[in-house]
Order: sequence, then C-alpha cells, then structure tokens
Amino acid sequence: MCGIIGILGTHEVSPQIHDALKRLEYRGYDSAGIATLNKGRLDIRRAVGKLINLSDILVHDPLPGRSGIGHTRWATHGEPTVANAHPHRAGRVAVVHNGIIENFRALREQLEAQGAEFTSQTDTETIVQLASHYLDEGMTPTQAARHTLEQLEGAFALAFLFEGEEDLMICARRGSPLCIGHGAGEMYLGSDAIALAELTDRVTYLEEGDWAVLSRSGAMIFDAEDKQTNRPVTRITLEAARIDKSGHKHFMAKEIAEQPSILQSAMAQYVGNTPDGLNLPETLDFKQTDRLILVACGTAFYACQVAKYWFEKLAGLPVEIDIASEFRYRDPVLGPANMALFVSQSGETADTLAALRHARRHVGQVVSVVNVTTSSIARESDVALPIHAGPEIGVASTKAFTAQLQVLALLALRAGWQRGVLSAEGCKARLAELRLIPGFVAQALDREGEIRNLAETLSQARDVLFLGRGTMFPLAMEGALKLKEISYIHAEAYAAGELKHGPIALVDKELPVIVFAPSDALFEKTVSNMQEVMARHGKVILISDLAGLTQAGDVPYRVQMPAIPEFIAPFIYAIPAQLIAYHTALHRGTDVDQPRNLAKSVTVE
Ligand code: AGP
Repeated sequence: MCGIIGILGTHEVSPQIHDALKRLEYRGYDSAGIATLNKGRLDIRRAVGKLINLSDILVHDPLPGRSGIGHTRWATHGEPTVANAHPHRAGRVAVVHNGIIENFRALREQLEAQGAEFTSQTDTETIVQLASHYLDEGMTPTQAARHTLEQLEGAFALAFLFEGEEDLMICARRGSPLCIGHGAGEMYLGSDAIALAELTDRVTYLEEGDWAVLSRSGAMIFDAEDKQTNRPVTRITLEAARIDKSGHKHFMAKEIAEQPSILQSAMAQYVGNTPDGLNLPETLDFKQTDRLILVACGTAFYACQVAKYWFEKLAGLPVEIDIASEFRYRDPVLGPANMALFVSQSGETADTLAALRHARRHVGQVVSVVNVTTSSIARESDVALPIHAGPEIGVASTKAFTAQLQVLALLALRAGWQRGVLSAEGCKARLAELRLIPGFVAQALDREGEIRNLAETLSQARDVLFLGRGTMFPLAMEGALKLKEISYIHAEAYAAGELKHGPIALVDKELPVIVFAPSDALFEKTVSNMQEVMARHGKVILISDLAGLTQAGDVPYRVQMPAIPEFIAPFIYAIPAQLIAYHTALHRGTDVDQPRNLAKSVTVE
C-alpha cells in the first residue's frame, strides 16, 4: 500500500532514496517525502502527488545528509496533503510507515491529554509522537522505539530516524513486508527487494513481529519475543528485481506483450518426466482432499473462478470460492480433509493473508500460487507455487493473471490424475493443449489493431457490459475490472444467460456490450443472448473466432481470435480483455500504470 526506504550511507543519501522510491511508487503515489540527518539535525522535504513533485522540490531545496528515510504513500487515514505526507516528525524523531495503526485514536487522545500537538490526520503521526514522548521521558532511542512498538495494534512496516544518531535506524515489521539490505559499510531497509535492487543484492527478509536496530556495521534483529535472532541473508537476482519498460510506452503494455514468453518459460518449470508429465511438489495431496477452497482478491479471484471449472471438470473435486475479505467473516465450515488454495500476485494482500491465517488453523493443507516467492503468503503456506511471471509493475494485473491460470490449470491436471479421474494420457493431452498457449496468445496480440479501433468508441461510454458463459464468465468479470480500474469507466460483467433477468433493462443504443464467445458448446446460447441485446439496439462487440463470427452474422463490432481448444480459451481471451482496457484508457488519457486511488499491493484490510 505504501513504500518505505531507509539508508545509512557513506554518501549523500537523498538521491539514492529518491531512486529507490521510484521503484516503490507502484505501491502508492498520493504523496512522497524524505527525511535526512543533516549535521545530526532532522531535515524533511515532502510533496503531494507523484514522486516527480518531490523531485522538483529537491532540485531547488536539496537535502544533505548520509542517513535518511523515505516514503511513497497510498492514503489510508487523511487525504493526500503535505501535512499528511510521510515522513512524520515529532521532536527529535521521524518515522515512515506502511500499514494501519488500528488503535491510533486512543493513543492520540492519550498523547494530546499529555500535551502533544498533532499536525496531521494520520494514524502514523501517533507513532512518532509516542516515540518522542518516550525520548522526553529519558529513554534511549532504542528503548523509545521498543516501547512505542509495544503500544501499537494493527499492521506496520516502519522505520525511525533520531536526531543526533547518524549511525542508527530502527525498523519493525508486523503485517506488512520489510527487508534489510547489506552494503559495503552501508545498511538499507525497504518494503521489498525491488527497492534495494540498485543498492545491494544481499537482503534479509524480516519475519512477522521482528524489529531491528541498524548501524552501518550491520543489524541486530529481535523477534516478537524480543529475543535477538538471526535471519538468513538472501541473494536477489538483480535482473528479476531490475524493472524497465523495455521500450514500451507503459509497464502494462510491456507486461501484456511479454505473456507468450513468460507463459512458455513458466510452463517449462512445471513439466517433468512423471506419469502425468508434471513437475509439482510430491507434498501436494489431492487424494486426501474432499474439497478445495480457493481464496483471492481482484484479478486473482477471477483466476480462481476460472479454475473452479477445471478442478471440477478434470478432477471431480468440489470447489468453493471466496473473496478473501469475506472468507473468514462467514465462519466457513472447514476441516482436515479440505485444501485451501490462495492466489496472490504480490503475496502480501492483507485480506488474502488474513484468510490464509484463518484457514490454516482448520484445513489439511494450505497451498498458494504467487508471483513473489519471498512474500508472506508464500512463506506461510505448506506449498507455495511460483507463477514465474517476473515483476509486474503495472497496477492492473495482466501477465500475472494468465500465469496464475497456467499454474492453476496444471494443479487441476495433477488433481485429476491423483484422484484417478484423469488418465496419464488425458493429462498429457491437456498438457499438449497448454503448450499451444504462447503461440495462440501471440496470435491474439496480433489483433491489437482491431481493438485499438474500438477504443475510441468505448472511451466515450458511460457504462459498459461484459458477457460470457462458462469460463468466459469470469473472463468477462476480469475484462470489466481491467476497464474500470484504468479507464475509470463503469463496467459490469454478467453471465450471458443472466442478462434477461434484469440487466437487459440497461441496454440502449449508447451501451457497449462486449461478448466473449469462442465457438464452443455454449456459443449458440451466448449468441442468442447477444441477439437479445442487438434487438434493443445495444452496441455489441463480439469477440470470437472465425467460425463464431461467421455464424453470428452481422454484428456491428467484431474482434477475431484464433480457433483454439476450449480448455485454453481463458488464456487467449484474456488478451482482448487487457487490450480493450489499455487502449480505452489511452484514449481517456488516464494514468495506465498508476491509476488513481489504486496501489499494486493492498497490504491493509
Ligand atoms: C488487478 O488488476 C488489481 N490490481 C487488483 O484487483 C489485484 O488483482 C488484487 O488487489 C489482488 O492482488 P494480489 O494478486 O497481489 O493479491
């Protein structure tokens, strides 16, 4: 949700902190700020909006100092203003924070009663006011930080900087990710390894409840029980961490375009010389599983919706699906024969992590499908399966969606084989279809021109409907989400057969209705729903293959997809869903990679 960075450097740190914040900006961009110790004194620059606004300030009003902390914000408490921007300062201490302090109001009242003067609406300011209060009571910075952490309830990844303490930075992690970087006579901290990628390739991931005292000679790490502990130093591949647009206008465009190669290389990690042809952990046990519970948010949730069809059809395995933020509040009936599977690109989504922690107390096996293998969700799973999509920077998820689908499809094949529903030959036949995906996705990408031509019309729309049947229904939901989140046009998705039960009242000549309909067993029914729309002058956009387009006859707008096996349709039809949103957003002039109000990883509930 927010990004934090800290450096105890041997050179002026402000430029390095600024560059690191650039790599964290995908986590939030409502405001940004840096604090340094300039001759031992705290000095802070903050700006509303994107990092570029802070850059402008720093050009005219540089921030000297070789110790510093920085922050890029996604607003939770308090609107995006300079006063609410981090770093926050009180007396001799400054702090940057990612997360939500749930008891901040009670703490604030207590501090105000003791004379503290608050200058912001944020929960974060409570942290620094508390630390300042303890300093004024004569505590050392480490004692003050420790006592402050004891008072906090909620989720945080935070870093303190203290006046007069040029070789000290204190950080803590509870519910939000944080890693420490090891340099040559320098030490760093950041919300993720990407932030530290240009500074070091040696990082230590703090565990839940850890806090640490950093100096340029290293870090003392304490666990949740205050016992000094060691955490492993991991080498990160800079290539994976280094991010650029590779010549594309936007990260989203790059990530859409790289799907054929990503899917091909990811698949290679999962095929093996086994009876079902799959290279999956032996500990995955679908034989003992009587029910699979799929839990996720957003796009990852729609990947689960598609996977439900696969697990039930290919493995005869009953599947329940839950939106993560609803899951634990419905008091789900769970048992040791259940398998709970969590899908998350970032692996840090608070709702999904909370659902995992609830489920693991009751189910037999917790499995996760993630892109960030060092993430909290991965670390807290019995089995974590990487999607190998590489860093996904665009806030709108694209390559992660198809890469999630690929791993879920492979799991469905393994489940089918283990449960005796799918023969080894059946597995290999389906695997052969999955291997066709990169080529078909590339063909779908070749239709970008047709989609670009549609974008002008769509960009004028006030509302858009997406329709589909079978696995094309969750695809319709994903298409609606993509369009909403980057073009800001209201869009809804319906099972095509559901239209006549009310939503058809929305149809008029202004309403674009996008229909995903490969010429499969459900095509006829979907086309009849489409004709109900055309009879009411709806602006139908039919996305189908040649056979389907031919059979459908005269439809105002058409996009032709390759003819493909039904099993892999979700991968192929994800491409028009992504490109429709992308080109419509371009026409609308919205910020494709960093849409308003959003962040790439929602690490608060
Ligand atoms: C997708 O385009 C959105 N950015 C959002 O719905 C996202 O899928 C959701 O927040 C889940 O994120 P995760 O996969 O990192 O858990």
